[in-house]
Amino acid sequence: MTDNPYQDDRGNKDATITNTKGMSDEFPIRESGDAYPAPGGPFLTGEAMTGGYGKGPDILHECTVSVNKGEIAVIVGPNGAGKSTAMKAVFGMLDVRSGSVRLNGEDITALSPQDRVVKGMGFVPQNANIFTSMTVEENLEMGAFIRRDDFSDTMAQVYDLFPILKEKRHQAAGELSGGQRQQVAVGRALMTQPSVLMLDEPTAGVSPIVMDELFDRIIEVARSGIPIMMVEQNARQALEIADKGYVLVQGRNAFTGTGKELLNDPEVRKSFLGG
Ligand SMILES: Nc1ncnc2c1ncn2[C@@H]1O[C@H](COP(=O)(O)OP(=O)(O)OP(=O)(O)O)[C@@H](O)[C@H]1O
Ligand SMILES: [Mg+2]
Repeated sequence: MTDNPYQDDRGNKDATITNTKGMSDEFPIRESGDAYPAPGGPFLTGEAMTGGYGKGPDILHECTVSVNKGEIAVIVGPNGAGKSTAMKAVFGMLDVRSGSVRLNGEDITALSPQDRVVKGMGFVPQNANIFTSMTVEENLEMGAFIRRDDFSDTMAQVYDLFPILKEKRHQAAGELSGGQRQQVAVGRALMTQPSVLMLDEPTAGVSPIVMDELFDRIIEVARSGIPIMMVEQNARQALEIADKGYVLVQGRNAFTGTGKELLNDPEVRKSFLGG
């Protein structure tokens, strides 16, 4: 599809899906930038985050996860390692006792999730990430809740990215397949024109073919200029598309490196990638 705005097309003037607030004019395509307001800093970072749920014990222990402009960062680790908790902490759904969250150089540690959305963050949680009784299109409209402008162009772009959603736009989202639901969830998050997208297990419960397809779409979104921080249980495949990878164990950073470095690390392979 040549008219797809998510594709690597620097000539495309219709960049409405990208929130260019605080970003360079041109889509940053996998170039580590020197255009940060905070020189050398990542675009989004949760740094040395320590905290847990309510009055419960700490789940995260000085945990750090970041994503650079134009890149894909992948967080992997065993069940219960705190991957979702780290995502929630970065999105403001968890009070961190210490550590900080910065977006494009600005300290946003004290902001509510809603305020973080207004600042440009999009988040697709691991569970309950769509309204099953609403239609596909209503889900996308809900995603645009912070917008007062005409969002029909963005919706058209989401439909270009995920053509099946256009076909099924009047169907209840709960009637869709697992992979299609995940497309609704990602599409919903794109409706705010985020400047960074956080995805918690976007390929959960889908077949390998659908997983590949979803990864391709995620790469497209990243190349359109929206950096992606995602948690994945398909660790090997996800690290293959990752610029940066984090292995979390018991709420701590166990291994950090480029996707390639982690894939080639004998210890990571043995313990987390099945040899
Ligand atoms: N809402 C909650 N209230 C209290 N404890 C929680 C809550 N959610 C998660 N936990 C606890 O935090 C720890 C980390 O859970 P988390 O969901 O972050 O792990 P995860 O790495 O995302 O696991 P999975 O791979 O299964 O999704 C677990 O011990 C879990 O029991
Ligand atoms: Mg999880």
